[in-house]
Amino acid sequence: MLSLNTTFDELKLSGIRRFAAMAKETPGCISLTLGEPDADTSDEVKAEVPADLAAGFTHYPPNNGYDFVRNALSEHMASFGKYYAPQEIILTCGATEALFVALASVLNPGDEVIVPTPAFTLYESIITINRATPVLVDTSDAGFQITDEMLESAASQHTKAIVITSPNNPTGCILNGESLAAVARFAKERDVFVICDDVYGQLVYEEGYKSFAAEYPQLRDRVIVCDSFSKPYAMTGWRLGWVAADEFLSSQMAKVHQYMVSSVPAFVQHAAVRALEKDVAPAREVYSARRDVVLRRLDEMGLETVRPEGAFYALPSIREFGMSSEEFCTRLIKEARVALVPGVFFGAEGFVRLSYCCSMENIVQGLDRLEGFVGKLRA
Ligand SMILES: Cc1ncc(COP(=O)(O)O)c(C=O)c1O
Repeated sequence: MLSLNTTFDELKLSGIRRFAAMAKETPGCISLTLGEPDADTSDEVKAEVPADLAAGFTHYPPNNGYDFVRNALSEHMASFGKYYAPQEIILTCGATEALFVALASVLNPGDEVIVPTPAFTLYESIITINRATPVLVDTSDAGFQITDEMLESAASQHTKAIVITSPNNPTGCILNGESLAAVARFAKERDVFVICDDVYGQLVYEEGYKSFAAEYPQLRDRVIVCDSFSKPYAMTGWRLGWVAADEFLSSQMAKVHQYMVSSVPAFVQHAAVRALEKDVAPAREVYSARRDVVLRRLDEMGLETVRPEGAFYALPSIREFGMSSEEFCTRLIKEARVALVPGVFFGAEGFVRLSYCCSMENIVQGLDRLEGFVGKLRA
């Protein structure tokens, strides 16, 4: 038999998708699985596409995006205290490509990347594809925060980078000042890159959020910011994101981007600018109200949950039931017709992820069913 790239043998297809599919196949099942806003992209943003097509935006655009988008992104980032010149920003196919470009541009085979868990599974896969090694560090006993000790215990002479996500998927937690300071000390002393996944940075419901890039501009030679239009602007299907870093890094990233996808489509780029002009506050209010309901109900049913302060997820503990998170979620679908995602897919065995980016009606009904299931298990 012809042989394939063995690196991919280690990778599994997304477990989140598997549970979402199981929910779809189960009649009447309420799915609280996917991290995708239920709202549609706004009409003003959509209207830019036919206008661009009519205006002839059907040719190869510049690889890193038109100047008008990179200028708008530079201004947008500056409004959050992250200062990057337009030429330091690359428009990418979602944060997925941004993360790939960021990691591929710094990793050599054999390097190690610290990934504090629970974490979005994509990081591990991208690191593996680049023939480097993910080093997972469990933060679940520290309220999902990062400490100096954790980082030191994970460090080796091969450590090349750390990936941080705040607000986090799947916990919804934001990294506090001490966590960011621990990462900054580590990055400085050990000369490692900090890949900041900021895709939920605009979806924060409480005071106290600080973005690493804004807090530590003195480390800009080792910080890469990955961001996306997907979550704040309900644009998951557009596959639009961006990556920003000091020119010494962004010029390397531009090569990865160019040889992988060349550019994002030409006729979505005015729509991207229009999205950046949108006020995200109404979406924030909707998610915040849903978050409050989720937290209250989880508390009432006695499922311990670290308070999510952003994104649209909660990660209650199911340790008391003495079963794996996959078994819990499989039984939950079969016996109660509500779908959550097993924490094990995020490196968080003993937890389940509940996504509240769906209608309040579904959230309430889903939580009623979860309560019934949990009650049955305890009886
Ligand atoms: C933490 C995190 N990073 C990146 C992504 C990928 O986002 P995009 O749709 O922009 O590729 C997601 C999507 O769920 C995410 O949760």
